[in-house]
Amino acid sequence: MKLYDVIYADPPWKYSFSRSSSRKIENQYPTMALQEIKGFEVPANENSVIYLWATAPKLREALEVMEAWGFTYKTHMIWDKQRIGMGYWFRGQHELLLVGTKGKYAPPDPSKRISSVISRKRERHSRKPEDVQLWIERAFPKARKLELFAREPRKGWEVWGNEVGSMKESHYQAALVNLKRAEESEQQRDIFEKAPDGGDDARTAT
Ligand SMILES: C[S@@+](CC[C@H](N)C(=O)[O-])C[C@H]1O[C@@H](n2cnc3c(N)ncnc32)[C@H](O)[C@@H]1O
Repeated sequence: MKLYDVIYADPPWKYSFSRSSSRKIENQYPTMALQEIKGFEVPANENSVIYLWATAPKLREALEVMEAWGFTYKTHMIWDKQRIGMGYWFRGQHELLLVGTKGKYAPPDPSKRISSVISRKRERHSRKPEDVQLWIERAFPKARKLELFAREPRKGWEVWGNEVGSMKESHYQAALVNLKRAEESEQQRDIFEKAPDGGDDARTAT
């Protein structure tokens, strides 16, 4: 079985709280029970890193999934969507990108370390900012990368998900255009602020 160094996953969390039928996630795509997600065999190398998306209400489950997949939680980043959404305790405006490692996997070089907050407007339902994958590509150029629960093909990655092969042609074309633009535009690859030069922490395996 082919194994990967970097896993990027955005699971189809199932919500049990009541939602009006018009707001049901299942109107967008099928969801999976926690046990099903945990039971997934992730083809990760013995030394690897995972970037796992979690909504705020799913934080506990996401940590469980990370552990079930063999990774140890390290830290997280926040995606500020710049607009409030729905929610019971707070009107949600952010999602979390959890980071975990398996075995020993070195963090990005200090010059590639970015802020733990990314502020990008939300796009279509569940769509995550492309900048995150662009950054992962820059931070780990030589790593073998796998996206789980992907919707689109992506150059340099293997992708897996039930929508990848059944995307509407217009979405597929848009994805290809995005890829081309990303490849051509060095400027786009510089959207993140670089960490200050020579940060105090040397590159260490964790
Ligand atoms: C949260 S969305 C991913 C969104 C994606 N990261 C993006 O930025 O557009 C979860 C995806 O998992 C897919 N999915 C749901 N059940 C699945 C299953 N059993 N096997 C594979 N993919 C599944 C959904 O159809 C959906 O495309």
